[in-house]
Amino acid sequence: MAKVLIVDDDEFLSEMLVHKISKQGHQCTVASTLALSLKKAREANYDVILLDVNLPDGNGLTILPQLTSMDSAPEIIIMTGIGTPNGAELAINTGAWGYLGKDQLDKGNLLLSMERALQYREGKKKVEKKTAVLKNLEIIGSSPELTKSLDQIAKVACTDINVLLTGETGSGKELFAKAIHENSQRADKIFVVVDCASLPETLVESTLFGHKKGSFTGAEFTSAGLIKQADGGTLFLDEIGEMNLTTQKKFLRAIQERCFRKVGGDQEETSNFRLISATNKDLMEMVKQGTFREDLFYRIQTATINLPPLRKRLDDIKELTFYFTNKLCRQYGLAAKEFSSDFFDILSSYQWPGNIRELINAIEVCLTNAGPEPVIYSKHLPENIRVQVARASVKQEPTITPTQTTPAPGADLYHAKSADFKAYRESSVNEAEKSYLENLMKQTGGNLQEACHIAKLGRTRLYTLLKKHKISRLGWPGKN
Ligand SMILES: Nc1ncnc2c1ncn2[C@@H]1O[C@H](COP(=O)(O)OP(=O)(O)OP(=O)(O)O)[C@@H](O)[C@H]1O
Ligand SMILES: [Mg+2]
Repeated sequence: MAKVLIVDDDEFLSEMLVHKISKQGHQCTVASTLALSLKKAREANYDVILLDVNLPDGNGLTILPQLTSMDSAPEIIIMTGIGTPNGAELAINTGAWGYLGKDQLDKGNLLLSMERALQYREGKKKVEKKTAVLKNLEIIGSSPELTKSLDQIAKVACTDINVLLTGETGSGKELFAKAIHENSQRADKIFVVVDCASLPETLVESTLFGHKKGSFTGAEFTSAGLIKQADGGTLFLDEIGEMNLTTQKKFLRAIQERCFRKVGGDQEETSNFRLISATNKDLMEMVKQGTFREDLFYRIQTATINLPPLRKRLDDIKELTFYFTNKLCRQYGLAAKEFSSDFFDILSSYQWPGNIRELINAIEVCLTNAGPEPVIYSKHLPENIRVQVARASVKQEPTITPTQTTPAPGADLYHAKSADFKAYRESSVNEAEKSYLENLMKQTGGNLQEACHIAKLGRTRLYTLLKKHKISRLGWPGKN
């Protein structure tokens, strides 16, 4: 039984939540203001706090740091009528467990989110008790970003929860998946890797679930699938975003009930595996587009660990380079190498789309190009890396002719050194949105009904946009 504090000024909603959550066997307390919620949270140790954003005495997000730093460190789930991406990001960055729109509370999402938060909490307690030391599996780096990921690994390793690893290609998802397995209670059991991207469509199911002899042309023997092989151990589903919808449905059952059937088989089989999945795709986006099942999406990620790209943790580049150069030199029987002073400048200026895998390849190329030379220079780096860094360093600002009096929309952004296309597009869209909404409010005098009608937007969407751009609907001359 968990202790849950519900913070909301809407009595009706609080009552509905108390009813729902108590039915799950948890103990609920209600608070209707920020002040009251802080008082109650200090008086008792809550496991979960459901926190509304708009409260009579202020914004719920402002007390998040106070709540999360309490001794009981409750998991906080934010509930709000008007969700904004910025608010959601802020909530997560401030340590909230999750962020739910009030329109989602009814659809089972709240209970699922709570269940996941409680499972995580259980795991956290076990970690704290064991103070597990992560067996170091050649994971190199000491940047704050990598250290955060390692902490997360240590936390989930001694639990049995489903973990989703996200990150760009070559960022270490498989290495981290192995680290979780090696540090788990299943370490002496098998670690089975399923690469969903390389499985031919026709063989996906038989590879995962196994098949009976004669169930399809070429099935000469009965075979146990990878799920069965992973019994007792860990199943690592790499590139889970590549799994087709039919297999997703069957797989969902296998993880929910640990029950499945062989292709052509009529008997239920069981397998007790721990699931770790990985993807470099945006699964949330795939859910929106209908190419990834929402229920599976929530199931596979009781915990999500995002591995930062190498360009976001430049501090690690040197350490990784020394480590892999020494390792490769030993492997190839070469004498130890030194590096020229500009070498690391180039490495730090490059974007590393292939992350650590690309860095290792680059080091191999350097060693080959350097041959017996004792010093590695930047000229030994692969040509594409040197070309890209050189091009980036001489990027020309566009010339503006004196006749050009009105800059194109967003032209100022184009001058900004860091304005890559995505950032430029985002800022331009933001600016355009803001100016549109200001005009809309001016034109309608802040009348929402009229504004919705003109903009052909729903009320909630319009509210969300106004909030995002901090545009008040009050105070416009005319109709308010
Ligand atoms: N922090 C690290 N320290 C040492 N080696 C690392 C680190 N991160 C990744 N590597 C190495 O980089 C290579 C790529 O890592 P890995 O295969 O785990 O990436 P990935 O995220 O699974 O990539 P992909 O999405 O392409 O499958 C591997 O050789 C791995 O051992
Ligand atoms: Mg991989």
